[in-house]
Amino acid sequence: MVNLSSVHGQRAGRFRAEDFPGPFRNVSQLTQAGLNRELASVDVAPLPAPLTGKCLVVIGGTTGMGLSAARAFLQAGALGVVVTGRNPESAVSALQTLGANARALTGDATECRHAIDAIALALEAFGGFDGLYHVAGGSGRKMGDGPLHEVTDDGIRATLQLNLDSLILSNRAAVQRFLERKTPGAILNMGSVLGWSPSPKHFSTHVYAAAKSGILGFTRSVASYYAAQGIRANVLAPALVETPMARRAAANPDILRFIHTKQPLDGGRIGRPEDCDGAATFLLSDAARFITGQVLAVDGGWTVSDGQL
Ligand SMILES: NC(=O)c1ccc[n+]([C@@H]2O[C@H](COP(=O)([O-])OP(=O)(O)OC[C@H]3O[C@@H](n4cnc5c(N)ncnc54)[C@H](OP(=O)(O)O)[C@@H]3O)[C@@H](O)[C@H]2O)c1
Repeated sequence: MVNLSSVHGQRAGRFRAEDFPGPFRNVSQLTQAGLNRELASVDVAPLPAPLTGKCLVVIGGTTGMGLSAARAFLQAGALGVVVTGRNPESAVSALQTLGANARALTGDATECRHAIDAIALALEAFGGFDGLYHVAGGSGRKMGDGPLHEVTDDGIRATLQLNLDSLILSNRAAVQRFLERKTPGAILNMGSVLGWSPSPKHFSTHVYAAAKSGILGFTRSVASYYAAQGIRANVLAPALVETPMARRAAANPDILRFIHTKQPLDGGRIGRPEDCDGAATFLLSDAARFITGQVLAVDGGWTVSDGQL
């Protein structure tokens, strides 16, 4: 019996029946020891780090999931990463975490120059711009978002501006640069499971849900229009993740009890920023070169679970 998982665990590479001479051609006759002997003679190049040589911009990369992803991008071989945020102290601390191949830019992502300047910084510092990860956004609760009958006029405007306008602006800046430079490019937008999988008791901010749902439609539409130019756009949609944005929820024992059944994976816990690193790295890498217009939920099971309490 061929144990394929152990084969893949030992050596990475592609195998065809013709690669195995004589009796080994019949896969059903293979023994593990025989296969191991054959594999030892196959010259397999190690897989390159997935983001080797890429220059990336993370709008909202100074704390939380954006910072964790930026660190993962560098570990995955990225040549350079620009991270942005409003708070200068967070920016300095992010640079300390990320090291010499990172640059930081402070400013407000709801202003149109912000992403333009971040991309210009990537080009100046690292000589390229291959991908954008837009993370900046957040709850509008303190600005007047909530259940619809309580939502304020200012809350509508501010929540959409923070979560949707800022993302449209950064995506426009990225697409303009890709087209101008005649290069392919990848965009990854931060969505949320709340964009299509509501949870009324604990997470009732309806303008935020509208913004996150809008990100799905916007991204798919952009993906469709620019696919022929090699520009890809996808959405990563987390559930509850322990970051500065999620302080209210993470400190509430009722919500944590709810999460135990709503995000049942890995013991039923709140997500960690690094839970999203693998998906973000993959979707910005060439391994995802044939993937566009997709939404990947990284949610501990949220969208397939009832949740109790
Ligand atoms: N945490 C969750 O449970 C969760 C779940 C699903 C989706 N999300 C999404 O994840 C994103 C938030 O990321 P996070 O949870 O990792 O929270 P976070 O730690 O607060 O990170 C947000 C990042 O964006 C920056 N940012 C926020 N508003 C900005 C603005 N107007 N201009 C420039 N930078 C800005 C923040 O820096 P400054 O604060 O210094 O500006 C920080 O770098 C949001 O898009 C949110 O909808 C979060």
